[in-house]
Amino acid sequence: MSARRILLGVTGGVAAYKAAEFTRLLVKAGHTVEVVMTEAATRFVTPVTFQALSGNAVYADLWDPRPHNAMAHIELSRRADVFIIAPATANTLYKLAHGVSDDLISTLAAARTCPLVVAPAMNRQMWANPANQRNVAQLRADGVQVFGPASGEQACGEVGEGRMLEPEQLLERLEALFVPQRLAGRKVLMTAGPTFEPIDAVRGITNISSGKMGYALARACRNAGAEVTLVSGPTGLPCPEGVQRLDVGTAREMYDAVLRHAGSADIFIGVAAVADYRVRNRAEHKLKKGDSVPVIELEENPDILATVASLPAAPFCVGFAAESRNLLEYADAKRRRKKVPLLVANLVQKAMGRDTNEVLLLDDAGSHALPEMDKQALAARLVEELAARLPPA
Ligand code: C5P
Repeated sequence: MSARRILLGVTGGVAAYKAAEFTRLLVKAGHTVEVVMTEAATRFVTPVTFQALSGNAVYADLWDPRPHNAMAHIELSRRADVFIIAPATANTLYKLAHGVSDDLISTLAAARTCPLVVAPAMNRQMWANPANQRNVAQLRADGVQVFGPASGEQACGEVGEGRMLEPEQLLERLEALFVPQRLAGRKVLMTAGPTFEPIDAVRGITNISSGKMGYALARACRNAGAEVTLVSGPTGLPCPEGVQRLDVGTAREMYDAVLRHAGSADIFIGVAAVADYRVRNRAEHKLKKGDSVPVIELEENPDILATVASLPAAPFCVGFAAESRNLLEYADAKRRRKKVPLLVANLVQKAMGRDTNEVLLLDDAGSHALPEMDKQALAARLVEELAARLPPA
């Protein structure tokens, strides 16, 4: 995402300490951050912390004369691309929903011209309180974006809904706000990661796929407005916010999960490095070292992508091809064999397990190369390429 001017409002909740980390992440991602606080927020974290992290002056007072026209309540949000209040307390949500303008944050919100986002954080009972729920519903109806809250352990010791989203999640959601909604209303089904074919109770056949490309693509599709179902082999990666993940181990489990959902998908993207073969003579118990070396017999796994592409009402299918040589030749043959309109080909050495990738796109018109880039940037680019080739909804 290109750099944005972000106005961050911090209100008085324990989660204010997470707003410090959020500021750091925003700055690290290249954004310009200005922080405004309520008086209560300054009791949790001092303005100096936010000033140091953002590199900009922090405002907490409606009467602050520093803006050149002495109108902090208008000036600060007018130069922002987005105003995000994180954490947003029940009290601030109430003020925003009712147009109360009695401190800097509520006045800025009322006078803003940019989009407003709130990340609620409060005790679970306060969150569930009908008055609070009415306020949140009103804010949604007014076009305010509500990020979270999450469920889990709370600072008060209780467990339930009301935790602020983690800073990384807030960053992800915020950046998504600026992405063109090229896949709005589309259902995307995807596979990612490696598969694991057991040999015995502890061993198996797998591969070096990290899942990074597939997860980046799942995130990019979601950012573009799609409803994403990600069928994932074993990876250590966290599920992207707002994506439905189905965990599988073997290629056949992946096949079953994909075919259960393929009928309702508009787009299918096979990014997973699926094992071509599984073990026919899988041992129930751990194989013991003995006199003879065990012989592993293999049998073929079904081809998920080719199966989905040949369904009578097949979704728009995108395949990936990882090759260690003869990239164009092998990938082109693969695209024809699997009958997919778009295939993304990459060299194993440049792709698998790495944070960057360099790909060739193959379709009926031929092939063209994309430059090497970060996998998340590439994923955003692939969404553009995919959207441009989609039949109209
Ligand atoms: O044949 P190969 O594994 O190289 O093909 C790569 C493409 O096919 C990828 O999109 C991969 O996810 C998909 N594939 C599949 N089922 C298999 C093997 C590969 O969907 N059994």
